[in-house]
Amino acid sequence: MEEKKSFLEQKIDLKSPNKNIVPITTSIGSDGKLSIGGCSIEELVKKYDSPLYILDEMTLRNSCRAYKLALEKYYPGNSMPIYASKANSSIFMSNLISSEGLGLDAVSEGELLTALKGGVPNAKIVFHGNNKSDKEIEFAVRNNIKVIVDNDYDLERLEKISNSFNCDLEIMIRFTPGIECHTHEYIRTGSFDSKFGFGIEYLNILFDRIRNTKHLKLKGLHAHIGSQIFELEPHKDLGEIMVNIISEAKKFGHDIQNLNVGGGLGIKYTEHDDPPSIDEWVKTVSTSVVKACKKQNLNLPTLMCEPGRSIVSTAGITIYKIGAFKEIPGIKTYLSVDGGMSDNPRPITYQSSYSACLVNNPLNINSKNKYTIAGKHCESGDVLFKEIELANCKTGDLICVFGTGAYNISMSSNYNRIPRPAALLVSEGEADIIQKRESPSDLLKYDVLPDRFIKQS
Ligand code: LLP
Repeated sequence: MEEKKSFLEQKIDLKSPNKNIVPITTSIGSDGKLSIGGCSIEELVKKYDSPLYILDEMTLRNSCRAYKLALEKYYPGNSMPIYASKANSSIFMSNLISSEGLGLDAVSEGELLTALKGGVPNAKIVFHGNNKSDKEIEFAVRNNIKVIVDNDYDLERLEKISNSFNCDLEIMIRFTPGIECHTHEYIRTGSFDSKFGFGIEYLNILFDRIRNTKHLKLKGLHAHIGSQIFELEPHKDLGEIMVNIISEAKKFGHDIQNLNVGGGLGIKYTEHDDPPSIDEWVKTVSTSVVKACKKQNLNLPTLMCEPGRSIVSTAGITIYKIGAFKEIPGIKTYLSVDGGMSDNPRPITYQSSYSACLVNNPLNINSKNKYTIAGKHCESGDVLFKEIELANCKTGDLICVFGTGAYNISMSSNYNRIPRPAALLVSEGEADIIQKRESPSDLLKYDVLPDRFIKQS
């Protein structure tokens, strides 16, 4: 029987990075070792230590461009792709995103500040959240950042602010379209039972309520149905549902000019995953909106979308160093690495699967063994891979985990007081730090021992 090809030998799709497991610049050198962005991973770890997050600039830029190009092709002249910064928020990411002409979605004052500091123009930022603080809402309004109203509480406060400033305020509203899609229940947001957005059945009351405010101007509609979605049908349905709502809102005198369909396009984490391309996703959404507008005799609204994972996930890898081995005869062999659930909480949270290889023998040449890759945290569930085939390996060898650009660093923690890894950007043989490694003493910065305890000791 022919030996199955490794995922590292598969053809790379340059135009839609979400269809690959690995960053598009991944290569195996003449020494048989792995490199990304023209940089030897072994050399990077020698210099920057491990664990290490690495982002590949070309993969990132190609993903941004794929959205821009597809929107230009299927929805010419009237669209705005917005990067969902919760996937990976940093000054660097904000800067790169805006250099590619994308907008950015933020859900906290921290993400807003990061975006502004990274140079994203205020007019291209949208502000989400199901429980925004007064301070966050005021910050957004004062900075001319468009607020997406999630509930009545948001609406009341925006009404008050607009009245006190005595000036008009453009808002968008988020609703739950009641669309089911096949993804993990924690990352499914568009079904009726969701904490986000207004129920669709409440919209007419809402339109009436907004019409009766002095200064709130309803200019946009938003929905997001979930994340890591491989089906196109739910997004086709969403486009149609949203256009129908625009038409309904018109009856109340609202002129909705922005239609934001959220994000959700999945990526290929393992060989079992087969997500649609960015082009196919954009085509589906655009065609559905154009068709529905024609049917309803409506002008085309500005089409916005909010990809997060499909922009940044495939560009990212995480490198770990192998430490201890524990063989349980007849059962399994544990191999422990120097990171785990604090730098990647997705396996323990969503039972997520990834692909990985050894840096010094990426194609598993000569031998194969089954391992369970465990993290170093004091938690039995801290397992990154329940079972993976790798060539024989030893303490000190490096493991590369693919597809970690999204929802890894942004969801990382300091559990067990473990400092966060450094993050690097690689491109054409150069590597730059984009987030510094934390040190154990950094973690003590916010601890306070009350005076009376100091006196006692
Ligand atoms: N827009 C809104 C309003 C969202 O809530 C999200 C993701 C996105 C856009 C971007 O979705 P994406 O294109 O990345 O699928 N932590 C989970 C994912 C949570 C997604 C939350 N919202 C994970 O690690 O899988």
